[in-house]
Amino acid sequence: MKILVINGPNLNMLGVREPDVYGTETLARINEKLASYVGDRATLEFFQSNSEGGIIDKIHSSDADGIVLNAGAYTHYSYAIHDAIKCISAPVVEVHLSNIYKREEYRHKSVIAAACAGSVCGFGADSYVLAAEALLRKKGV
Ligand code: DQA
Repeated sequence: MKILVINGPNLNMLGVREPDVYGTETLARINEKLASYVGDRATLEFFQSNSEGGIIDKIHSSDADGIVLNAGAYTHYSYAIHDAIKCISAPVVEVHLSNIYKREEYRHKSVIAAACAGSVCGFGADSYVLAAEALLRKKGV
């Protein structure tokens, strides 16, 4: 089983970016934690891009059995990412570190959610772990 983990804009700045909202862990550390949780149950591929096109191209070309996607702010307005998710058959789980429903109103709406298999938000680095676990269970791994 292969899982692709995609992080969108500004998530490369974790550790420095608004630590009161996103915590102090870097993306590299979050990826490490996820890899140690998954162990040998799946192969993980990590990808981060600040551009919408980069994320879309990666979704199109993925050979993964499932995708964990934190689309960052694109979550709230990228119909193009919504459509890209619908182009592929592998399940995509939307994740957010923060609880987007407790934050500014414009973050309450996800335009990608309806294209995804499910969503996890509000658990920090554990949001990625829970999303990967959901994909593993879906595959019976
Ligand atoms: C985020 C939430 C988004 O609203 C925000 O734009 C981000 C991060 C999260 O992980 O909590 O960049 O996706």
